[in-house]
Amino acid sequence: MVPNREECLRLMGEYGMLENIVFHSLQVAKVALFLSIELNKKGHCIDLALVEAASLLHDLAKTECLKTKEDHARTGSQLLKEMGYERVAGIVAQHIWLRKEGETPSVSEEEIVNYADKRVMHDRIVSLEERFVDLKERYGENVKAMDYLKRLQREIYGIENKIFFILQVGPDALDQL
Ligand SMILES: [Fe+2]
Repeated sequence: MVPNREECLRLMGEYGMLENIVFHSLQVAKVALFLSIELNKKGHCIDLALVEAASLLHDLAKTECLKTKEDHARTGSQLLKEMGYERVAGIVAQHIWLRKEGETPSVSEEEIVNYADKRVMHDRIVSLEERFVDLKERYGENVKAMDYLKRLQREIYGIENKIFFILQVGPDALDQL
């Protein structure tokens, strides 16, 4: 079961999502859907409804977790699981870090949402480079935090290469959105 766009927007309201997180999520959905549609044109079989719902709901628990300091990917995923949205929950759980099930040549819905989130800074589409400069400035307060961000950055470049190798365009193709 996958909630439609209307239901997702209702849930975002119900959970009191901050306005800036709503705008961020709408933009992530736009990027993720664009990539999915382009991948499908190349013969892939991405579930568009699933990508849209997971993009809209990936930060569902973030507003609350800013106060409680919980892991918002985990909490959001649990909430969605309780609502019966298992598949969306699985993607939300992996929107910061991907659970690796071995390198596959195909692109998964998890990878698309994860990548799209990293191309949207606030509500603006930016390069991975720009996004990580900002993340490091905001969160790289010590060696450990910096190390964490560097690992995350290395992983996401691998996904970027895979997606855009298939699409045969550069990552800046998103700038037209
Ligand atoms: Fe998030």
